[in-house]
Amino acid sequence: MLKAFYSVEDFRRGARRRMPHMIFDALDGAAGTERASRLNMAALENIRLQSRILVNVEHRELSTTFLDRQWDLPFGIAPMGMCNLFWPGADEALASVSRQRNMPLAVSTMASSSLESIIERAHGNAWFQLYAGESDELTQTLVERANEAGYQTLILTADVPVLAPRLRDLANGFEVPFTMGPRQVADFARHPRWVLDTLLNGTPKPVNVGSPESGAHSSGGVAGFRRESGRGHIDWTFLSQLRSMWAHKLVVKGVMSPTDAKMAVDAGVDAVYVSNHGGRQLDAAPGAIQMLSLIRQAVGPDYPLLFDSGVRSGEGIVKALVSGANFVMLGRPFLYALGANGPDGLRHLLDMLANELSIVMAQLGCNDVRQLNRAMLVTDL
Ligand SMILES: Cc1cc2nc3c(=O)[nH]c(=O)nc-3n(C[C@H](O)[C@H](O)[C@H](O)COP(=O)(O)O)c2cc1C
Repeated sequence: MLKAFYSVEDFRRGARRRMPHMIFDALDGAAGTERASRLNMAALENIRLQSRILVNVEHRELSTTFLDRQWDLPFGIAPMGMCNLFWPGADEALASVSRQRNMPLAVSTMASSSLESIIERAHGNAWFQLYAGESDELTQTLVERANEAGYQTLILTADVPVLAPRLRDLANGFEVPFTMGPRQVADFARHPRWVLDTLLNGTPKPVNVGSPESGAHSSGGVAGFRRESGRGHIDWTFLSQLRSMWAHKLVVKGVMSPTDAKMAVDAGVDAVYVSNHGGRQLDAAPGAIQMLSLIRQAVGPDYPLLFDSGVRSGEGIVKALVSGANFVMLGRPFLYALGANGPDGLRHLLDMLANELSIVMAQLGCNDVRQLNRAMLVTDL
């Protein structure tokens, strides 16, 4: 069975078969015409790497240090809301694998399990991703809960001042919090495994934030978070307030402008997270990888940079690292793997990515991920 998965695209196809159509679309889709999403992948594909010969690359080191922690691999799992909706038990599976592989899992504000339970299962290998804006009280509660639960890294996602329309979700009538209505019955009838497991586990909800539609109150006791709510008033003043509230590592996610990257450095954040949200926000955005080198130039050679958007292979991870990232995150591929083959699929994907990464390093004459650098890019063709 596992033999059928040789690439992220194989996992994607497997997930499409096993997930209800509207659920797959909510995962796979992006903003508007989905041009930014496609461009993310195309721009990465267009990067060419310089092979080298006669270097002893018998031993290749894949572990690295990022934000004062040692990780076994130079990549981790990007924050994704409502993972259990895409595949039942996804939060648990992602947390377990982050512990087993010593890799970071970014836990979304919109996670479908409590932020406390996820970091516990991940054995501390978890970063908390904050959506701020609905109310100061909710933001403060989330930050305090993250601190008390032992999170050492807080990621402020700053590229959702408003939620971009996703045409596939609109056409399918997909909404969060999720409700099963008559419209979905035919779609779901064709995917009994997903439906059964989802019903057995209870329909996933964004449990860390109360939602007015569901009437649910978070365990933090503050209700009222709406996914569509305006976060438009979140500005640089808020970032400096957050900086004084949070004593551990602070990261800003969704940076696509060299000017913003420099401003974030000046605001005292510990790392900048270059990302266009996997093309799920500004459809007119360039491919995220196209901005990475420029942002690296703007912040200087030593400043910590995280990268995501469009990475679909170990080769893609290498390309992001040589373009200036210190650490790489992937989003959709992990949920494709779970959708296609559950926790086995997840483990298989991780082995595949690590193996691809290691093979490309050998071809570049590189035996340590920390030595991947700009000279390995072929730029003047
Ligand atoms: C289903 C889904 C849910 C997401 N939810 C969040 C979220 O709650 N917070 C956030 O900062 N980013 C969220 N993202 C964006 C990811 O963190 C990441 O930027 C993006 O998926 C990277 O692109 P990739 O999927 O091409 O790897 C989400 C992405 C997906 C696909």
